[in-house]
Amino acid sequence: MAKRIKVGVIGLGWPGREHLKGYLKSARAEVVAVCDANEELAGNIAKEHDIPSVYADHKVMFKASDVEAVSVCLPNFLHAPVTLDALRAGRHVICEKPPALDARQARRMADAAKKGGLTLMYALCQRFTGAAKLVKDYVDKGELGEIYFGRAVYHRRRGIPLGTGAWFTDKKRSGGGALIDIGVHALDCAWWMMGSPKPVSVSGSAYHKFADVLPKGTHFDVDDSAFGLIRFDSGATLILECSWALNLSGGSVTQIAGTKGGVEMNPLKILTERDGVQVDITPHVPDADAFGGQTDHFLACVQTGRTPLMGAEEGVRLMQMLDGIYKSAATGREVRIK
Ligand SMILES: NC(=O)c1ccc[n+]([C@@H]2O[C@H](COP(=O)([O-])OP(=O)(O)OC[C@H]3O[C@@H](n4cnc5c(N)ncnc54)[C@H](O)[C@@H]3O)[C@@H](O)[C@H]2O)c1
Repeated sequence: MAKRIKVGVIGLGWPGREHLKGYLKSARAEVVAVCDANEELAGNIAKEHDIPSVYADHKVMFKASDVEAVSVCLPNFLHAPVTLDALRAGRHVICEKPPALDARQARRMADAAKKGGLTLMYALCQRFTGAAKLVKDYVDKGELGEIYFGRAVYHRRRGIPLGTGAWFTDKKRSGGGALIDIGVHALDCAWWMMGSPKPVSVSGSAYHKFADVLPKGTHFDVDDSAFGLIRFDSGATLILECSWALNLSGGSVTQIAGTKGGVEMNPLKILTERDGVQVDITPHVPDADAFGGQTDHFLACVQTGRTPLMGAEEGVRLMQMLDGIYKSAATGREVRIK
């Protein structure tokens, strides 16, 4: 086994603590530092897990510590600047979703990783569930034929997050609402299962209808639901629906359809045909530790130099699709993606 990688986690909200759990379980990692603006929180977590160094400022951490790889689990507006600081300081990065506030930032992050010869991965944990891996295996082995349609749905009937200092509902700090927060998970998972084709055009709508469910005085200038249609250079089409608040039942659905078969998830069903008979398979996939699998994959990529499952260039494409839906929603026109 290669030597353990010295890791640090920046931002210790729920996802940051999930990354930390993954590292603590991994034989590839030695957790040497945690960093959070809330020093008391960081101090308590460090004490609980015997982590030697605690920082309130990531720049101080990069100067003072020998950490080699970091998780960036901060509010969205900090993804690009902190990831760029880390890459410029020679550290490998796994950054939480969404990759950035927009595709231009994601481009700068990808360029910095390339320049430094460093691993940059984005944490789209739904790729690491047992069901997602099984479906991708069916696709990669050609068992569903040519995939030409995908549908990604992630609805909450009511569930608008606020975060520390209510950043989720503030466009300057979040980049957007339901679409960039949870639509990104649904879109990424379906797009990946379709083989990550190159997007060429996007149409979308976004709505803002539920200000009254938030505490009085909350700054709220983002979408609480959004819908999109994306066309790919392969000729395939993907439809996305997502909401933080919508008068429909909550839940998520991922569907992909190909020339030989299709898949529906939540619950998982594989639709095939055998000798003219339609056959539905309902696999019993054991639960996988998606966050643990994700951080372990990141470390394996750092050790081997392999491109991660959700790497820097895919992060740019994902942001181009989200930007396209927002732009189309604002202009009422289809948006081309170069
Ligand atoms: N993968 C998932 O399923 C998932 C789930 C929830 C959130 N997220 C993503 O994780 C990120 C963080 O979300 P969250 O829910 O933890 O937010 P949060 O507001 O609850 O927590 C963020 C943490 O970062 C700390 N912080 C803020 N500014 C800082 C700074 N400059 N330096 C150091 N620490 C700082 C805060 O003190 C806080 O502890 C977001 O990008 C969000 O989209 C991912």
